[in-house]
Amino acid sequence: MDRYIVVGGNRLSGTVRMSGAKNAILPVMAATVLTPGDHLIRDVPRLRDVEVMKEILEALGARVQPEEGGRSLLVNTDGLNASEIPEDLMREMRSSIFLMGALLGRMGQVRCCHPGGCAIGSRDIDLHLMGLGALGADIHEKYGYINASAGRLVGREIYLDLPSVGATENIMMAAVLAEGTTIVRNAAKEPEIVDLQNFLNGLGARIKGAGLDVIRIDGVTQLHPGEHTVIPDRIETGTFMVAAAIARGEVEIENVIAEHVEAITAKLRETGATVRVEKDRVVVSADRRARAVDFKTLPYPGFPTDMQPQMMALMCTADGTSIITETIFENRFKAADELRRMGADVKVEGRSAIIKGVPRLSSAAVEGPALREGVALVLAALTADGVTTVEGVHHIERGYEALEQKLASLGADITRETWREPRPVRQYAG
Ligand code: EPZ
Repeated sequence: MDRYIVVGGNRLSGTVRMSGAKNAILPVMAATVLTPGDHLIRDVPRLRDVEVMKEILEALGARVQPEEGGRSLLVNTDGLNASEIPEDLMREMRSSIFLMGALLGRMGQVRCCHPGGCAIGSRDIDLHLMGLGALGADIHEKYGYINASAGRLVGREIYLDLPSVGATENIMMAAVLAEGTTIVRNAAKEPEIVDLQNFLNGLGARIKGAGLDVIRIDGVTQLHPGEHTVIPDRIETGTFMVAAAIARGEVEIENVIAEHVEAITAKLRETGATVRVEKDRVVVSADRRARAVDFKTLPYPGFPTDMQPQMMALMCTADGTSIITETIFENRFKAADELRRMGADVKVEGRSAIIKGVPRLSSAAVEGPALREGVALVLAALTADGVTTVEGVHHIERGYEALEQKLASLGADITRETWREPRPVRQYAG
């Protein structure tokens, strides 16, 4: 297994460019199965999750090859000849569940395993299945598998009990080839939904309203292949904004859509950091200890849950007490256990975490239990006293392209080493 070695204390300075958004590229890759032909997708981030989605598409009969020096993918789906998502890949990446809508639209059937939960929560899929069922899919669940089939799906009005990102995307993809009009109410409004709408409309779909809470999809009888450039990753952007605040210094972050990080910008300014917003970049600078602030995670455009662990790390070193409320996932304070090993004062009570900032964290051997929780530990290590080792790199590289290189280019002292053998259990002095 790999781990990062981080020597804390270096200020950050310089410029870093954000990659394409993980949570935009995954549904766009899934949507390519809706129509045969060559799809060219640009600004594709080099991430484990993109590799998994590539393997799933190839298992279904598609051909996926890098183009333009690897910054783009050419996806050809002429050879699509299967509708079962391989269980091992489905388990590795639960978000492959939104292939269901696309496969129902193209193949009229899909078989996949129930994705199950993950470290941050149960992550049910009842809204996905409700939506696809409402469009006419016949869905059976047994032995941990889901079988869904349909002739031509029929458009309906669907109300989502909560604005689920994945359910909204699944329904959109199923509805584009359905007969008649589908209206999705209480739809998720994340920028990645708008990006998916733009990609689908580029294939000849007729969708309006993504980014608002009512989305209208007028079904069409056929689509054609398309090209698309993925939007920048707003969570990677927020992560580097917090890195500048926690390590201090001044960092210019390029390839940014400022509107997508407004909640993060506002919250960081409350902590006392300076955030300068320009057309396609933000410049974050901090030269003193952050002020403690309270926040709660909310669906977009509220403060994103995917930035909660990173902000928790910053609050651990802030001046004062902060209260974080996690309203999206029921088990997303797992970073707290490891931050406490670094001397943080964090108490978790249900959906809230109370953090008393300490002047400085201390280094430790820590392990990230999940993607955003892992990167939060790297951020904490940037400012900790001494050498921190962060295990769980395999989680982090699911969502961050070249994290250590990008941080090192800004002056962080971070390296990556590979463990071939299980690490001997070390007894640390008391
Ligand atoms: C997407 O997950 C993102 N993943 C997540 O990012 C993100 O945290 C989440 O949206 C919320 O913004 C991708 O886009 C690939 P949801 P998704 O459906 O679609 C409950 C990251 O770190 N729910 O909006 O799975 C669910 O349990 C990842 O990049 C149901 O109850 O999120 C959760 O509590 C983590 N029934 C809440 O809704 C359903 O049918 C939000 O889930 C669906 C969801």
